Amino acid sequence: EVWNPNGKYRVVSTKSMPGTRWINLLIQNDCRLEICTEKKTILSIEDIIALIGDKCDGVIGQLTEEWGEELFSALSRAGGKAFSNMAVGYNNVDVDAANKYGVAVGNTPGVLTETTAELAASLSLAAARRIVEADEFMRAGLYDGWLPHLFVGNLLKGQTVGVIGAGRIGSAYARMMVEGFKMNLIYFDLYQATRLEKFVTGMFLPTYGAFLKASGETPVTWKRASSMDEVLQEADIISLHPVLDKTTYHLVNKERLAKMKKAREAILINCSRGPVIDEAALVEHLKHNPMFRVGLDVFEDEPFMKPGLAEQKNAIVVPHIASASKWTREGMATLAALNVLGKIKGYPVWFDANR
Ligand code: DGY
Repeated sequence: EVWNPNGKYRVVSTKSMPGTRWINLLIQNDCRLEICTEKKTILSIEDIIALIGDKCDGVIGQLTEEWGEELFSALSRAGGKAFSNMAVGYNNVDVDAANKYGVAVGNTPGVLTETTAELAASLSLAAARRIVEADEFMRAGLYDGWLPHLFVGNLLKGQTVGVIGAGRIGSAYARMMVEGFKMNLIYFDLYQATRLEKFVTGMFLPTYGAFLKASGETPVTWKRASSMDEVLQEADIISLHPVLDKTTYHLVNKERLAKMKKAREAILINCSRGPVIDEAALVEHLKHNPMFRVGLDVFEDEPFMKPGLAEQKNAIVVPHIASASKWTREGMATLAALNVLGKIKGYPVWFDANR
């Protein structure tokens, strides 16, 4: 699909993206925009090299594509100076290779913070109250009357939520769970000062705590853990929000699952990247602990699930939809277009590593 065929700068988008703002932005600024209409979901390196062609000023790409040496060298040979991932995560992008070939890399932070945190909160609630299992039970025609023990789950109020990775998304999730459900908070991050400290525990929680006290409610507590294991040992629900890199690969493994305070009945949520969890170890843990529950938006070998995961009733699985609200996806597309256009026009590209 070609927009503004006579535009001076050739920009390629490897996928069609929601909304029209991003398209208008490019074509009103003298870009010829080519949107790939290939039906298959995941493009190969060869497909993308063919899209780049002989002349290409910039590319908007997707998290399903491996942007390394081959693609950045092809883009640079075609005269390209800009690449933007339509995602905040950039584990699919070899930033060193991009630098080597003089290509600026952009990502799309901010616009997806609340939407992603809302999915993590939705999965937390769905897991705590066993909503998916209960829905399947109803549809299967198995409900034959109210029973005292039918789908008994967890009350969140007064329990402890653990956040691992206290950046933008982890902070928004923490705020939702504390404010929405009066949960206590424990969090851990490898970096010293976190956004969670600045906005949630530094500003929001003291005010909220005073409000609870004035209304005669039990105040919530919050603390920064000195290690990840402390979170595992104290939290009832743990949500993972780190960046995926060498230090966070298999952060949650067999040993750590066993260390969880309630290894047998805790809840684990992952809306970050699949390889943060050793998924094979998780499947084993789920098999042996039917009241341990997980909510997963991402998978180690996406789009596939490890054998056995789909059969586990205590797992809720959704297809990487954490940022999938209309407002957010249109915002991500616009930011990605702005990144590429900005570089073409000589402005800095928005690349921010702190999710
Ligand atoms: C991201 O942006 O990194 C998400 O995984 C997709 O929105």
